[in-house]
Amino acid sequence: MQRANSTEIMAYPPPLSKNKHLTRWVEKMADLTQPDNIHWVDGSQAEYDRLCDLLVDTGTFFPLDKKLWPGCFYARSTPNDVARVEDRTFICSLSKDNAGPTNNWEDPFAMRRKLKQLFRGSMKGRTMYVLPYSMGPLGSPMSQIGVQLTDSPYAVVNMRIMARIGAPVFAEIDKGEKRVVPCVHSVGAPLAPGEQDVPWPCNDEKYIVHFPETREIWSYGSGYGGNALLGKKCFALRIASNIARDEGWMAEHMLILGLESPQDETGKTEKTYVAAAFPSACGKTNLAMLIPPAGFEGWKVWTVGDDIAWIKPDATGQLRAINPEAGFFGVAPGTSVKTNPNAMATLARNTIFTNVALTPEGGVWWEGMTDDPPAECLDWRGEFWTPEIGKATGRPAAHPNGRFTAPASQCPTIDPDWEAPEGVPVSAIIFGGRRPTTLPLVYQAFNWSGGVYAGATMGSETTAASAGATGKVRRDPMAMLPFCGYHMGDYFRHWIKMQRSLSVTPRVFHVNWFRKDETGKFLWPGYSENMRVLKWIVDRVRGRAQGKETPIGWTPHFNDINWQGLHFSRETFDTLQAVDRDQWKREVIGHEEFFILLHDHLPPEMIYERELLICRL
Ligand code: OXD
Ligand code: MN
Repeated sequence: MQRANSTEIMAYPPPLSKNKHLTRWVEKMADLTQPDNIHWVDGSQAEYDRLCDLLVDTGTFFPLDKKLWPGCFYARSTPNDVARVEDRTFICSLSKDNAGPTNNWEDPFAMRRKLKQLFRGSMKGRTMYVLPYSMGPLGSPMSQIGVQLTDSPYAVVNMRIMARIGAPVFAEIDKGEKRVVPCVHSVGAPLAPGEQDVPWPCNDEKYIVHFPETREIWSYGSGYGGNALLGKKCFALRIASNIARDEGWMAEHMLILGLESPQDETGKTEKTYVAAAFPSACGKTNLAMLIPPAGFEGWKVWTVGDDIAWIKPDATGQLRAINPEAGFFGVAPGTSVKTNPNAMATLARNTIFTNVALTPEGGVWWEGMTDDPPAECLDWRGEFWTPEIGKATGRPAAHPNGRFTAPASQCPTIDPDWEAPEGVPVSAIIFGGRRPTTLPLVYQAFNWSGGVYAGATMGSETTAASAGATGKVRRDPMAMLPFCGYHMGDYFRHWIKMQRSLSVTPRVFHVNWFRKDETGKFLWPGYSENMRVLKWIVDRVRGRAQGKETPIGWTPHFNDINWQGLHFSRETFDTLQAVDRDQWKREVIGHEEFFILLHDHLPPEMIYERELLICRL
């Protein structure tokens, strides 16, 4: 239906919400962006199927073989739109000081003017989808609601997997009990009348903008991942971290998993939930879906979430967590039946694959999926690829940030309580990074503020570092460097303050699966063997395991770890756990370099903790 002016908006397929604020805002945004149609998203399967058909018609989607990959689609982006764009991401708080030195900032008034220009007419020739979504189970007191206006049907179908969307969310909005976060998204590729669309419309110029005070998100120019699925990083981390600070809870870049012990003689099991923060590409999804190794018969690991945790104290002062997402937007390369069989089972159906390789059988492939690559395929750019061509050109078949979008409910280890409205109780928090030296396999911080210090000084080797070479360590506090929506120093202060509302303080740990020996070989096998470390963590939380006091915290003795089913020498363990005072003194200098950046907002506890650490060293 052609649209002439805003007064006609009610003539559109009727708005699915009666909320006047919402309908007026939709009308205003339609006046600005001038779409040809407005589609109120009901979230039904029939609607999803129609949108997928549309995406097939425009060449965005290729349906995969129905027997091999039932209900799955394949998409390719353009090479200028393959990842989150951190340098184009802005936190436009009223003052620059509120955003802090680790975020890009621009004056919010100037930015609004800029966005108005960019969005004026940006949806011409396209449909504007009015996509309501709930981050967290619908009706949970911990959930939050957003409405994303978008001209990307690709974003809509991905969001249907990643969040709870559609008519039930409109009903929730109409109750008027929850504030709605408005999100405007355009790929920035208006169509002239009669102009043919391209499979992946986007714009070279990109802006991912957050207004923390008014809780708004504006995203322009990209159709990919975290830039376009606005519930994920933009809302659930950058905006939610602001809401959480104001309301006394935490929005974190963390997986959540539950460890369940074998039955005791009375048939009872014990379940302990932990939340863990690792920077992107450090194995959060693998840890969240871990299958216990030999020697852990009867143990179960349950998945609650693989990327984001919203954590809040309940009325008794116990921290409880929900996964605000409903799906996994996982990195495909490296995922296999060996490294993560649960992820492979999850993505076997009803999944959208983006920027991986397409096989002649109508299947997908990526580096690391199987030992032997397919004899031929089309790579993520759509070009003919063989292993020989790959070798000669150095070009992988799948983009390193190629992704799968898969429903969490399909995960074989999804926790029975993953949608519990009150969340699951969190007993431990784990931080970790990719560190070739210095950081032991595991240690426990002495107390909460020591734990906050461990998270605040977290570092990770940049993934571009070549094998053998010493990687450059980037400080990535709590794995939130790209995602904290306000000043990082204030964020540490908020962490410190959180303890006051707790009756049980979760124990805090730091792990490093990536320590190497002098020859550059990993000292620890990782993957399912990480269960041995998780078990020690559970035992510490439950007051059962011994710990050895070191300058940085408590570490396990060799005999505190269950080694059944793995030959691991005491000598290698000692190397893995070594706390080398000289290395640690250099490490503290690294902490200080980062802290200087934040000095005027740094809570004193961080200085005291550093001084105490120096004294112990
Ligand atoms: C993600 C990321 O997509 O951290 O989860 O980049
Ligand atoms: Mn992430």
